Amino acid sequence: MTDSAPAPAPDLSTTAGKIADLKVRYHEAVTASGEAAIEKQHAKGKMTARERIDTLLDHGSFVELDEFVRHRTHAFGMGAKRPYGDAVVTGTGTIHGRQVAVYSQDFTIFGGSLGEVAGEKIIKVMELALKTGVPIIGILDSGGARIQEGVVALGKYGEIFRRNTAASGVIPQISIICGPAAGGAVYSPALTDFVIMVDKTSQMFVTGPDVIKTVTGEDVGMEELGGALTHNRTSGVSHYLASDESDAFDYARALLSYLPDNNLAELPQYESSAELEITDADRRLNTMVPDSPNQPYDVVDIIDHVVDDGSFLEVQPLFAPNIVVGFARVEGRSVGVIANQPNAMAGTLNIDAGEKASRFVRFCDAFSIPVLTLVDVPGYLPGTDQEWQGVIRRGAKLLYAYAEATVPLITVITRKAYGGAYIVMGSKQLGADMNLAWPTAEIAVMGGQGAVNILYRNEIKAAEAAGEDVAAVRARLANEYTYDVASPFLAAERGELDGIIEPAATRVSIIKALRALKTKRASLPAKKHGNIPL
Ligand code: HXC
Repeated sequence: MTDSAPAPAPDLSTTAGKIADLKVRYHEAVTASGEAAIEKQHAKGKMTARERIDTLLDHGSFVELDEFVRHRTHAFGMGAKRPYGDAVVTGTGTIHGRQVAVYSQDFTIFGGSLGEVAGEKIIKVMELALKTGVPIIGILDSGGARIQEGVVALGKYGEIFRRNTAASGVIPQISIICGPAAGGAVYSPALTDFVIMVDKTSQMFVTGPDVIKTVTGEDVGMEELGGALTHNRTSGVSHYLASDESDAFDYARALLSYLPDNNLAELPQYESSAELEITDADRRLNTMVPDSPNQPYDVVDIIDHVVDDGSFLEVQPLFAPNIVVGFARVEGRSVGVIANQPNAMAGTLNIDAGEKASRFVRFCDAFSIPVLTLVDVPGYLPGTDQEWQGVIRRGAKLLYAYAEATVPLITVITRKAYGGAYIVMGSKQLGADMNLAWPTAEIAVMGGQGAVNILYRNEIKAAEAAGEDVAAVRARLANEYTYDVASPFLAAERGELDGIIEPAATRVSIIKALRALKTKRASLPAKKHGNIPL
């Protein structure tokens, strides 16, 4: 017998033959793509579906499901090609030793398209995740609904969307886009909690460049239309721009380290040696807010100084950079952090910032992750653009999210907290549990300059008429207003703040507040569901 001669068929009348037959079929299942298709995939800088699972999960932990599933379609000559496993690999495994469920679309088989049985496989593993209360991670690389299967394929998408919705707020759902996600197929990731996209090799769009050209005449390339940068920076669909696939899987693993397995599970607890005395590093907080109220600073420096060392993981950093959101740990336990960013648009709130932060607050609330809010906000961004785009309706989401949150809410005002933006950013009146301010805080209906224009109109006119230095008069009046009206001591007098602290004491105060609030119980009136302004 030569090397190239086919191996004899196993003798199925014996136990040994049946085991050999299983091995042959299993080998067929895991190599269904064929070398040429795998090479094509690698040439595009992409891993195969199985390589992705191996990179994402703890080594050797993957347990595959449904590897012998085959499609049942005969239309368009499909009956001649029925590979085991169809176009998606599904199963369970662990990340940092914790159980997860996973599916990974296989572009090398029918372009990763979703037909009846690929859909059934995904639905089955989603149901397993929901039943066992573990996170589900979807790795997407697909031409969308399998064209040969028509309405059956579309129907499976509908069933997946329903499972995504049922799982929302029950188990964490993460989508990692490693190739195309086109048409209605984009809506499964959109329904999940976090979307990670790989730079240059992933695209998401509802209608592609050709259809756009036909219908609107617009000329746009695939990358500009729906590439990873576009969805991270412009649309806000994606939460992380991965430099390559390994980076995407690293980010997903890091993200999961902050999340509980499900909405009823405890938060992960990591070792921590948090110091309860004020340290030299803490004292650096005393110099972080500049003397001039108009001078920006990077709020991420403050975040890094008030949470466990190096624990801050930013989410959606490229979208609406005027607000920063992300996870961190305090005494080894997860917190969600939301902070106005004075370094971008002076930290003003706009529609994008409101939507980014409200979705984050709701995620934290659903999974019992306490929320720490750092406030330095001059107000809402003015302008017709914002008003006509619906800043009223869309900005109300953040109010709604904070007001319905029942997790521990801790708010620290570092500098400006003006107008509606003061209320929306985790104020006492919206339900925050511990509201602290630095002595640099300014809390009022508006900033000193704006207030002077309205309150002291006559004085300024008189100064002008008398030939006085109007700018100096304005500055004096604005300072008086800030000192007399915007002083945090006025808010503290009325109990709207629970305390005014030296910045250096912030880290320790947050630790103590989280300890005090660990047993917090709060509930909302019974209802089917609220009606968040969408
Ligand atoms: C069946 C498909 C397929 C599909 C790709 N393939 N998409 N087979 N159904 N939807 C097959 C191709 O025929 C090809 O098979 C193989 O996958 C690889 O595809 P290529 O075109 O060679 O790859 P590439 O050049 O990289 O282009 C990838 C692509 C393109 C951009 C995704 O294939 C494409 O435009 N596909 C159609 C996308 C689409 O319109 N889908 C429907 C979206 S609507 P062979 O045998 O040649 O290797 C939708 C509705 C969901 O999904 C609704 C939910 C409510």
